[in-house]
Amino acid sequence: MISSSPFTFITTTLSLFFLIQRVNSQLPATRTFTFINHGDFAEGVAEYGATYSEIRNEVYNFDIFPFSLCFYNTTPGAYVLAIRGGVPGDRREPIRWVWDANRRRPVGENATLSLRRDGNLVLAESNGVIANGRRRLVSRDSDADGSDGPYSLVFEEPGIIMYLNYSGELIRYADWLGYTGNKVTFTTLPENYVNSTVYDLLLKYDEPPPESSRDLNITLQKLNYNATYSFLRLGSDGNVKIFTYNGVVRYPRWEQSFAYFPDYHVRECALPSRCGQFGLCDRGMCVACPSPKGLLGWSEGCAPPQLGQCGGGGKVGYYEIRGAEHFLTLLVSADGQMTVAECRRRCSRDCKCKGFVYQENTSLCLTVPLLATLIREVNTSVVYVKYLK
Ligand SMILES: *[C@@H]1O[C@H](CO)[C@@H](O)[C@H](O)[C@H]1NC(C)=O
Ligand SMILES: *[C@@H]1O[C@H](CO)[C@@H](O)[C@H](O)[C@H]1NC(C)=O
Ligand SMILES: *[C@@H]1O[C@H](CO)[C@@H](O)[C@H](O)[C@H]1NC(C)=O
Ligand SMILES: *[C@@H]1O[C@H](CO)[C@@H](O)[C@H](O)[C@H]1NC(C)=O
Ligand SMILES: *[C@@H]1O[C@H](CO)[C@@H](O)[C@H](O)[C@H]1NC(C)=O
Ligand SMILES: *[C@@H]1O[C@H](CO)[C@@H](O)[C@H](O)[C@H]1NC(C)=O
Ligand SMILES: *[C@@H]1O[C@H](CO)[C@@H](O)[C@H](O)[C@H]1NC(C)=O
Repeated sequence: MISSSPFTFITTTLSLFFLIQRVNSQLPATRTFTFINHGDFAEGVAEYGATYSEIRNEVYNFDIFPFSLCFYNTTPGAYVLAIRGGVPGDRREPIRWVWDANRRRPVGENATLSLRRDGNLVLAESNGVIANGRRRLVSRDSDADGSDGPYSLVFEEPGIIMYLNYSGELIRYADWLGYTGNKVTFTTLPENYVNSTVYDLLLKYDEPPPESSRDLNITLQKLNYNATYSFLRLGSDGNVKIFTYNGVVRYPRWEQSFAYFPDYHVRECALPSRCGQFGLCDRGMCVACPSPKGLLGWSEGCAPPQLGQCGGGGKVGYYEIRGAEHFLTLLVSADGQMTVAECRRRCSRDCKCKGFVYQENTSLCLTVPLLATLIREVNTSVVYVKYLK
């Protein structure tokens, strides 16, 4: 698993939190704190079109520039305890939600956040039911809907893996491979040279493996400014991005400082959701909707062929898209080496198979449960799409 608080600044912001949580002795009654969520909304534009209230009273606040603790909501009556990044003075750009406690289980109006005499900080519904936090890194469903989306980031053998949950089947669509220790943390570090202003965005492994001196930390990006205030997000489109707050510039202060699938060229095409349900992508643009009649113009309505019961039974055919790849790479995901006829039979026998990718020079065959975005790349492989004849 990814560490449950994988963000540098969160270590700062939340240390307050955890420090409070770790106190075991009784607190004097004057130091306890209860915040009732009345929905007194703060000014300012927030990400996801959310409204929010800041959590503070005369004694406590949870502000550490540029972060503070808030309740936000995107639908009435469903509140999420979250850390806000950015300050309302940042005109023209929304403040961001950089971490949240209970996105899957929002609390209602009059829910309380209290620091109790036993030292525990507790989020509870107004009826006293205690809300549970979330431990996995799972995408939200959309900007408007904070419930779990289909994408997840998991730390397991053989690395950090991104999965797409397609009707219950987990499809591995991207990864960072490497040593798997107990924990990996996203962090930022200044480069260790005199007068260097360069910062690295890193995935840092907890502990080195035995008898190895190779560089294990994964450098995602180098930035020529102070990257201390950064957070990593698995977006509702399945992309992994890092945003960095730069208080020195006037606008924009939140900079997208890294994307696993950047906004250009072939890699952006490798984001499964790039062309919605179906499409052929060339240098980041959805250029065609492949059909049995050939390549048609692409629109958001472009959909893969309907196959009906169990993949169409015996009446299926395949149409070819030459010079195309699938978001699953052949080298990692191929079923094996075989003839194209064998690969086709494999797909036809499999109810869940929507098509296959075949590379002639290597005889690699990859049957796929989902077509989604196909990538145009000359002379690489041929994608065969299953359809009802
Ligand atoms: C919240 O509390 C206020 C004051 O006690 C009450 O008027 C309001 O109805 C409560 N709201 C909900 C949703 O329970
Ligand atoms: C995948 O999604 C289904 C709903 O389509 C859900 O029931 C299941 O728990 C999810 N699996 C994982 C591992 O997230
Ligand atoms: C670092 O900066 C200081 C002050 O600008 C300068 O005097 C010094 O020579 C610089 N050191 C190096 C190694 O560039
Ligand atoms: C990984 O980064 C940490 C700093 O966070 C550093 O102490 C360690 O030496 C790095 N490991 C390698 C193998 O570079
Ligand atoms: C970068 O910003 C952090 C937070 O404001 C600060 O503590 C740190 O000293 C800065 N680093 C440099 C090299 O100025
Ligand atoms: C693709 O293959 C064709 C025919 O074999 C060849 O003429 C062309 O140069 C190749 N293009 C590239 C970019 O390799
Ligand atoms: C097979 O063709 C692909 C695409 O042209 C190329 O990248 C790959 O290196 C080739 N593999 C072999 C073993 O020739």
